[in-house]
Amino acid sequence: MSIFFSAETDKLMTGAKTETTKRESGNQNIAAQTFTFRELATATKNFSPECLIGEGGFGRVYKGRLGNMGQIVAVKQLDRNGLQGNREFLVEVLMLSLLHHEHLVNLGGYCADGDQRLLVYEYMALGSLEDHLLEISPGQTPLSWYTRMKISSGTAKGLEYLHEKVNPPVIYRDLKSSNILLDENYNPKLSDFGFAKLGSLDENETVSSRVMGTYGYCAPEYARSGQLTVKSDVYSFGVVLLELITGRRVIDTMRPANEQNLVAWAQPILTDQKRYQELVDPLLGDNFPPKGLNQAVAVASMCLQEEPSVRPVMADVVVALSYLQESPCGILDEDPNHHKPHPPPHDDKAFESHGILDEESAMDRERAVAEAIRWGSNNSRNGQRSRKGMGPL
Ligand SMILES: Nc1ncnc2c1ncn2[C@@H]1O[C@H](COP(=O)(O)OP(=O)(O)OP(=O)(O)O)[C@@H](O)[C@H]1O
Ligand SMILES: [Mg+2]
Repeated sequence: MSIFFSAETDKLMTGAKTETTKRESGNQNIAAQTFTFRELATATKNFSPECLIGEGGFGRVYKGRLGNMGQIVAVKQLDRNGLQGNREFLVEVLMLSLLHHEHLVNLGGYCADGDQRLLVYEYMALGSLEDHLLEISPGQTPLSWYTRMKISSGTAKGLEYLHEKVNPPVIYRDLKSSNILLDENYNPKLSDFGFAKLGSLDENETVSSRVMGTYGYCAPEYARSGQLTVKSDVYSFGVVLLELITGRRVIDTMRPANEQNLVAWAQPILTDQKRYQELVDPLLGDNFPPKGLNQAVAVASMCLQEEPSVRPVMADVVVALSYLQESPCGILDEDPNHHKPHPPPHDDKAFESHGILDEESAMDRERAVAEAIRWGSNNSRNGQRSRKGMGPL
């Protein structure tokens, strides 16, 4: 990905004597660019409805074109009536100035003019996962199985970075499909860090906090008592993975009473592998690999366990999912509008008869996934953290 607000862009922008200023501390990682309200008003045609791309609990999001360079950005204007707004704004600016990863959205800068609070992000061309999974219009092509797995894998890597590569760990606290943004190639990035909190390196040590986040995605122990660990995020990840598999919203009041809560509805199916196919999004038809389905459901099920200590750590989830995002021909199916024909399910022989994947490599992959899953549950059962390749930043 191109570097957002590259040094060159900055030079050009300051060279062009825009009102934009850049404040840098001694630490190269902290470089928050400030914008004036006027600049952002110009960029968004005075916050015109034609530039509006979304609205959340904290305010509206506009597509904007910045200064002379015409760089496309997303501008979030926080609601001035929001009681919590200022705190979330500060946390968001601080967190995103310090954290950098290919699966976290880039913060380009902010504006804190008078009582105006605005955030400027890299523009994510395909909007949120929610738009592609849960709010699809009749003519819209649904996400393919492999794109869903690619999104879950990238999301898991973003969380792994926050939990295991940053020191002290960062608990994201607001994982949900509307906070997973997609670039033009369906690469996912986590957005909205206003609720994020620093965690403890000791996973048994909980951080007490007021319960924030979104109903349905919150881990049960956190919703009950506000006891927060990185495992609360692991639970929310399980919910998102279940949404990706089923195409169902975590809470959907339009469904029959016993299906309104996705996790409660799925729970009896999760314990019976023979029933896994009942979970599959009907929009996928037969276009999913049955073994891949089993493995993805197994990962979701582990993440959704009631007891936080037995949920896997994100590093293990990343390993388990990394095997599931490749289609049998080994090419990522990134664009669901250009479907490659997938072999029909329930017929493993189809892989062979197409000469796409020989039995041995299919078994290797299956073994590797099973091993990763086993390893994950053993590790978490022993209360160990797996911190591969991790070092304090
Ligand atoms: N950087 C971005 N690029 C493109 N679209 C974005 C960007 N940020 C947000 N959006 C769009 O704006 C919508 C609203 O985002 P916002 O974060 O304000 O609210 P939300 O996540 O839907 O809800 P909540 O306020 O509960 O977190 C998103 O769903 C997405 O479609
Ligand atoms: Mg959001």
